[in-house]
Amino acid sequence: MRLPLGDIADISGGINDLQPEDRAVHAWYNFVLSFPPHLVREYIQRLDVTARDTVLDPFCGTGTTLVECKKLGIPSVGIEALPMSHFASEVKTTWDVDPSRLRDHAEKVAEDASGRIAAGRPAPGHPTTPGGLGTLSPEKLKLLIKDSISSLPLHKTLVLLTSIDEQLDPRYTDHELLGLASVLPTGIGNLRFGPEVGVGTIRDDAPVVEVWLSEVQRMAADLERVLGRSRTPSMACCGDAREPMKMLEPESVDAVITSPPYPNEKDYTRIVRLESVLLGFMDDRTELRRTKRWLLRSNTRNVYKADEDDKFVEDHESIQHVAEAIEARRIELGKDSGFEKMYHRAALLYFGGMKRHFAELREALRPGARLAYVVGDQASYLRVMIRTGQLLAEIAESLGYDVEALDLFRTRMATATREQLREEVLVLRWPG
Ligand SMILES: C[S@@+](CC[C@H](N)C(=O)[O-])C[C@H]1O[C@@H](n2cnc3c(N)ncnc32)[C@H](O)[C@@H]1O
Repeated sequence: MRLPLGDIADISGGINDLQPEDRAVHAWYNFVLSFPPHLVREYIQRLDVTARDTVLDPFCGTGTTLVECKKLGIPSVGIEALPMSHFASEVKTTWDVDPSRLRDHAEKVAEDASGRIAAGRPAPGHPTTPGGLGTLSPEKLKLLIKDSISSLPLHKTLVLLTSIDEQLDPRYTDHELLGLASVLPTGIGNLRFGPEVGVGTIRDDAPVVEVWLSEVQRMAADLERVLGRSRTPSMACCGDAREPMKMLEPESVDAVITSPPYPNEKDYTRIVRLESVLLGFMDDRTELRRTKRWLLRSNTRNVYKADEDDKFVEDHESIQHVAEAIEARRIELGKDSGFEKMYHRAALLYFGGMKRHFAELREALRPGARLAYVVGDQASYLRVMIRTGQLLAEIAESLGYDVEALDLFRTRMATATREQLREEVLVLRWPG
């Protein structure tokens, strides 16, 4: 299939390149995989979205689309499978909070926590180390990436959480918790992102309460910037984008702007693991497995025997060819670890899952709805090139969508193959 290619637009750049007005709210909590807000703005224009429309982001992550829509007065709905990211999307679109009262309340919490830490009081309800520091249960510790947080900062974080809990005021608690989630990975913990999550310099101590308080103060300053703009409805649902009708009304969506996972071995649950465990969104392995089942199978760490999404792409020759090429390359290279043996299946499950998503979504779309999917080529499975945008376009077309364009967003060079990997925006139209 030949696709019309859009103009090459230089719309790359992450959150740190943005002007203060742009950064407002987006920066409260976001992860490396967020797409830049100006990309959302560009596609709001490109898809002719107005304030009378409803925009859906079915893989909303930490809420970039929802926040940008709200800033522009456009109603929006998000779906996100990870409880931690879903919570972030919800809080980031809750703007009817009095900024100065939030600041005052956070100061009270900070004073309480600092007093407890100075007095050497561990957080009640948690086990303690032989040195008298509060810690997590063995089950929870097992979920954390090793060395992602040192003992003293962990102890202080548990005390701070106790203070947030004991000074509970439902008007501010969620913002206070999101502020903590935001500073936990790199401000308190030892993690670094580049773009995979890993452990950086291990620090023995961190000014936990101070770092947290200045984050909440920054959030309060952002809330001042968006004062009076809280009325536009925005809703984030925690669920599986392959079953959107569990959350959406028929013909309720006018436009979709989203960036789904790519088939690239990224484990989203690891990226948000530290804050998910500390904030209580994930308590043990059973819960981790349950969460993983809702995720698209975009990496071999969440492929299960009972998975059946691959059968949805049995009749897509080009996808079958990609899977066959991955398996042939594996055999040729003599790679036979458990993960490597699953590469070709993960690719099939990924595209099958996306097909289910596109198929089920049709009921939620108003006739004439337009959709923009930001996706990237991948070569992570033994360097076999997966042209994600092209293959998703084929799937969407087979389900009755019109493929309007595959815009080039940016290119990256695959280090191993020296081939160009395209990041693209697939633009579709649902004729109804
Ligand atoms: C590339 S990220 C989206 C980032 C988002 N644009 C942002 O600005 O934060 C893809 C997201 O899809 C979520 N996800 C994966 N499978 C999902 C599914 N089946 N249903 C809903 N969300 C899913 C992941 O947890 C991740 O947050």
